[in-house]
Amino acid sequence: MKGVILAGGLGTRLHPLTRITNKHLLPVFDRPMIHYPLQALINAGIRDILLVTGGSNAGDFLKLLGNGKDFGLQHLNYTYQEGEGGIAAALSLAEHFVDGERVCVVLGDNIIERNFAASATKFARGAEGARILLKAVPDPERFGVAAFRGTRIVGIAEKPRRPKSRYAVTGIYMYDARVFDVIRTLKPSGRGELEITDVNNWYLRQGELGYEILRGWWTDAGTFEALHRAGNLVAKTGANKLDRPRTKTRRRR
Ligand code: G1P
Repeated sequence: MKGVILAGGLGTRLHPLTRITNKHLLPVFDRPMIHYPLQALINAGIRDILLVTGGSNAGDFLKLLGNGKDFGLQHLNYTYQEGEGGIAAALSLAEHFVDGERVCVVLGDNIIERNFAASATKFARGAEGARILLKAVPDPERFGVAAFRGTRIVGIAEKPRRPKSRYAVTGIYMYDARVFDVIRTLKPSGRGELEITDVNNWYLRQGELGYEILRGWWTDAGTFEALHRAGNLVAKTGANKLDRPRTKTRRRR
């Protein structure tokens, strides 16, 4: 499975911090924000990775990450997004790179405590069309929110005023190769963007959307509050922790 990190956008919710740099280059505790999603993909066993970025600071990603040597990679791929258009529009730039395979997409401002390796392996081998990771949050109205009937998702709403559950759709998405055809059918939303939520709802309508609840904490870092929280969480517990291998302990008699 291929990996794509979306790190474009204007980061207007973080002005003036983002007037002179890209949001994903801002520090989150002791590392630039972009390090976290990159490590998250690598921890999930994905090594063929494309970074989508844009704006006037795109070159700084090359300076910072190069070919990914600090992360044990031999090569890292980059592409440039002209202008703005939403998450799904940014993802559409990865079509050539993904080249008919399955793809795991991570938003560049999403940080997780643990890892989703088991979920990625399951999706890479399985027959599901798409898979999303959910997390219960106190402020679901800030995110895409899943509505349930029993344990089944019946709809996803983007930033609903009255959320139908506490479960936010995190910025970690897995898709089969049809995702690019789906994006071509999308119309811009009220905020003028091609919404990833519309992509997820398409797979849901086909009965091909799987989900899982993410273990450990999850946060975005795209507002001042979230950026502050992200720094505190990383300082306190660290991010992207690998699962400890389970060792059998023998009881003493
Ligand atoms: C985006 C998605 C939203 C998702 C969130 C996760 O929101 O549109 O569905 O829950 O990322 O970070 P945005 O950051 O564009 O407001």
